[in-house]
Formats: sequence, structure tokens, C-alpha cells
Amino acid sequence: MTGTITVAIDGPAAAGKGTISKAVAAYFGFAHLDTGLLYRAVGAKVLDGVAPLEAAQALEAADLDRDDLRTPDVAQAASRVAVLPEVRAALLDFQHAFARRAGGAVLDGRDIGTVICPEAEVKLFVTASPEIRAERRFLELEANGHDVMREEVLADVVGRDDRDMNRVDAPLKPAVDAVVLDTSDLSIDAAVAAAVARVQVVLDQRG
Ligand code: CDP
Repeated sequence: MTGTITVAIDGPAAAGKGTISKAVAAYFGFAHLDTGLLYRAVGAKVLDGVAPLEAAQALEAADLDRDDLRTPDVAQAASRVAVLPEVRAALLDFQHAFARRAGGAVLDGRDIGTVICPEAEVKLFVTASPEIRAERRFLELEANGHDVMREEVLADVVGRDDRDMNRVDAPLKPAVDAVVLDTSDLSIDAAVAAAVARVQVVLDQRG
């Protein structure tokens, strides 16, 4: 069995982090944590009227199964609670423990390679142009039965990126040692292959 290895996959909204992370985890048999879901679950509880810190401290596994977590409203609420240092701090230990679990872990988010796990053995920063990311998210939401307009989805993506990049605590940016993967002109298979190849290089170096 692989010892401890953390694959940190960061990047802006709808860049393809989730798809790539799941595929990399499945390929190597690593565990996967979508850290955006933690912030979305806190954001959803805040929309229900719970205070942000209370929501983060009381987060339970069942909260991650809510079926409204992928909606644009919850995405916006997530990025608003994500600027709060006390919310980020409340979610840190869980993410860090997950990252260092035996058998390998893939975490995707905004600050995995910079703050949660700066010691991660593999760091990828997955990105694509805002228009392409918005189009992918639009198709995804539409396929899941959400009634959304293209312009709204683009505005959501651009607005969240702006808030995520400009917050004081754990802003979205590539770690200095991250490999940048621009998926604008890549198929899913090509993007996954590039990510898998990067992890393989690190595993091979370990011997
Ligand atoms: O799926 P998408 O990339 O659109 O978003 P997500 O990964 O589910 O994240 C939703 C929001 O949570 C982001 O816009 C960030 O504000 C926040 N987030 C964060 O601050 N740090 C993370 N590690 C993950 C998400």
C-alpha cells in the first residue's frame, strides 16, 4: 500500500478540479475530499439562519449529503462564509487529518497547496478561461435540472473568483511549487491524463 501522499488540487470555480480529483483518486486508489462541499454545507446552513461559526463547528457528515449544495445560491453563500477566518480555522483540522491519512489522499479546493497542506507531495493548480468554466458549469447545472441562465452562471463564477482571490485569509492563488494545468483546450481525458502523469512522476521518484 502507498504510504502517506497528498495530492492538492486547487483552482478557481468550475475549473474541472472535481472531475480530475475523482479520476486521480480512483486511478491510484486514494481517498478524495471535495473541500468546497464543506464550505457549501456551511453556506447552506447560514442560508437556513444558523450563524457561520456555529454552522462550521457543528458540521456533520449528513450535512454534506444535502441535495441543494450544488445550487448557485449555495455557491455564493459558501464564498461569503469562506472569507471568515474563524470558519476556515474550524474546518482546518479535519482537512489536515484527511490529507495525511494512510493510503493517499486527494483534496480539491482553493488553499490546499498553500495553507491546508503546504507539505503536499503533488500540487496542481487547475484553471481555464472564465467563459469556458462558466459554459461547463452551465451545462452541468442544466443537466442536473437547474433552471439557470448562461449570464447568471458567468456572473457567479467571476464574482466568486474575485472574492476568493481577494480575501485576506487563504486567498486563491497557485502555490509557488504548484504545476499549473490550463484545461481550456483539453478534453477531460487529456486533463486527467496530465494529472495522473504528474502523480506518477512523484511516486516513481519515491521508488
Ligand atoms: O465547484 P466550484 O469550483 O464552483 O466551487 P467549490 O469548490 O465547491 O467551492 C465553493 C466555494 O467554497 C468557493 O467559491 C470558495 O469560496 C470556497 N472554498 C474555499 O474557500 N476553500 C476551499 N478549499 C474550497 C472552497
